Amino acid sequence: MIAIKSEPDRYGVPALILHWLMALLVAALFPLGLYMTSLDYYHPWYQLGPWWHKSFGLLVLVLLVIRMVWRGINMNPRPLSAHRPWEVSLSLFVHRLFYLLLFFTCISGYLISTADGRSIEFFTWFEVPALISGIERQEDVAGDVHFVLAVSIIMLTALHIAGALKHHFIDRDETLKRIFGLVAKEKRRV
Ligand code: HEM
Repeated sequence: MIAIKSEPDRYGVPALILHWLMALLVAALFPLGLYMTSLDYYHPWYQLGPWWHKSFGLLVLVLLVIRMVWRGINMNPRPLSAHRPWEVSLSLFVHRLFYLLLFFTCISGYLISTADGRSIEFFTWFEVPALISGIERQEDVAGDVHFVLAVSIIMLTALHIAGALKHHFIDRDETLKRIFGLVAKEKRRV
């Protein structure tokens, strides 16, 4: 049976979709950001790259807010009993840091784009107005912060994936299966 709300030992479908959708977006946004900043003015992707990057970046922010609200009204599964206390603390720390980094990466990206007072297009649906603009060196400072935070997210993701693979291949527990929604039936009836 599909669960909408997360339960003590498994994630609900919305939590799983949010996790993997955001993981995909982060995996696409980072190389796209590097690529588009390397292009010269006459390249066809000079305008198109930032347009997709901004729209998908705003989508990350929207999904992040939905995810926080969903987490607020819905429990997160408990850590598996096989997890040692340091592993539980580290994974909690990494998850919280992800939320913080993702939030400030989106905000700093917004500040780069709105530095000159221009709004941001959210796909072709609507425009997000420039609420903060004209601060001295706004584009440069926001750009540096955005880059450092984006690199931090990638490094944290590497640690996160290493942890997930360690649980799967060394500890041979259910951690990785859980985030794919694959949990053995008997384990769910605890
Ligand atoms: C940038 C990409 C990613 C981000 C931002 C991210 C973030 C998170 C967060 C915040 C959680 C906590 C649960 C939740 O709130 O939904 C989580 C759980 C988890 N993630 Fe990721 N994740 C990413 C990519 C991945 C990848 C590629 C894998 C697998 C190789 C993975 C494996 C897991 C696992 C196994 C859990 C469950 C941990 C547990 O149940 O204790 N994640 N992730």
